[in-house]
Amino acid sequence: MSTQVAAGSRVLVTGAASGLGNAIATRFAAAGARVLITDITTPDTLPAGEVAFQQHDVRSAEDWQRVLAWCVNTWGGLDMLVNNAGVAAAGRIERLRLSDWDWILDINLKGTVLGCQTFVPLLREQGRGHIVNIASMAGLLNPPGMVSYNVSKAAVVALSETLKIELAPLGITTTVVCPGFVPTNLGANLRSPDEVLGKAANRLISHGKVGADEVATQVVAAVAAGKFLVLTHPEARKVMRIKRFLPKLVDNGQAKMWRKTLGKLQAQDRTAEAG
Ligand SMILES: NC(=O)c1ccc[n+]([C@@H]2O[C@H](COP(=O)([O-])OP(=O)(O)OC[C@H]3O[C@@H](n4cnc5c(N)ncnc54)[C@H](O)[C@@H]3O)[C@@H](O)[C@H]2O)c1
Repeated sequence: MSTQVAAGSRVLVTGAASGLGNAIATRFAAAGARVLITDITTPDTLPAGEVAFQQHDVRSAEDWQRVLAWCVNTWGGLDMLVNNAGVAAAGRIERLRLSDWDWILDINLKGTVLGCQTFVPLLREQGRGHIVNIASMAGLLNPPGMVSYNVSKAAVVALSETLKIELAPLGITTTVVCPGFVPTNLGANLRSPDEVLGKAANRLISHGKVGADEVATQVVAAVAAGKFLVLTHPEARKVMRIKRFLPKLVDNGQAKMWRKTLGKLQAQDRTAEAG
């Protein structure tokens, strides 16, 4: 199967003002694609190549309609939709408020659902297209202390698995990408009612061993080859093999990490009660 991006392909990447989305947009543009970057914030500069920008909040159906109209009017269609925009959160189940859940599910899950709903009719009409959803290893491993993020990303995996079969007869290919930690701005914008968990997640993200450029290179090659599940980190591929055959081992590892974190959380709670 080819791993080349067709020159002139029309690619939309959401949340691409920074981080992974920006790296994916840059990589597609370098490969000769025409790229539309969208984001709630405006990027300082655009990647080299045929790249445009549209302001876009993925929670807004009106914004999605405007982006769809841009693609139809400017390009006459779209070849690939990359649902990348996302935010992160940490926090214990009893600490997270429903408003915290609304915030992350509205962006990570419903933003992706809206993207698919908006563009599937156009891709169906074209008889071809590709949807790429950026989920996370968190949606496969479900680590403790990050329940709202895990649920949002597990739901994106479920959405993608459903669409893989549902949309295939329409000529639409689906890919879901599950990166491990990648040093981006995700940690800086992370929300958490538990300072200890917020700081720990931020540290893990900033110490991610695979960079955004490397992830983007893998994503572009994998989608060009029509792969469904993309695990970008070598240790994640290993952990997923262990989870499949020896799930208890993965549970034990996560429980051990959680026991260590619990000590810090109890100290945090004692300080809060004393204050
Ligand atoms: N960095 C990691 O460790 C990691 C790991 C796995 C998955 N991911 C996923 O990768 C994707 C990109 O994240 P990143 O790490 O590049 O973080 P990032 O913060 O650098 O980029 C996320 C982008 O999304 C944009 N955004 C946020 N809310 C938005 C909204 N409502 N509408 C439109 N755009 C919005 C932000 O402005 C930002 O530019 C996310 O879906 C994230 O969950 C990241």
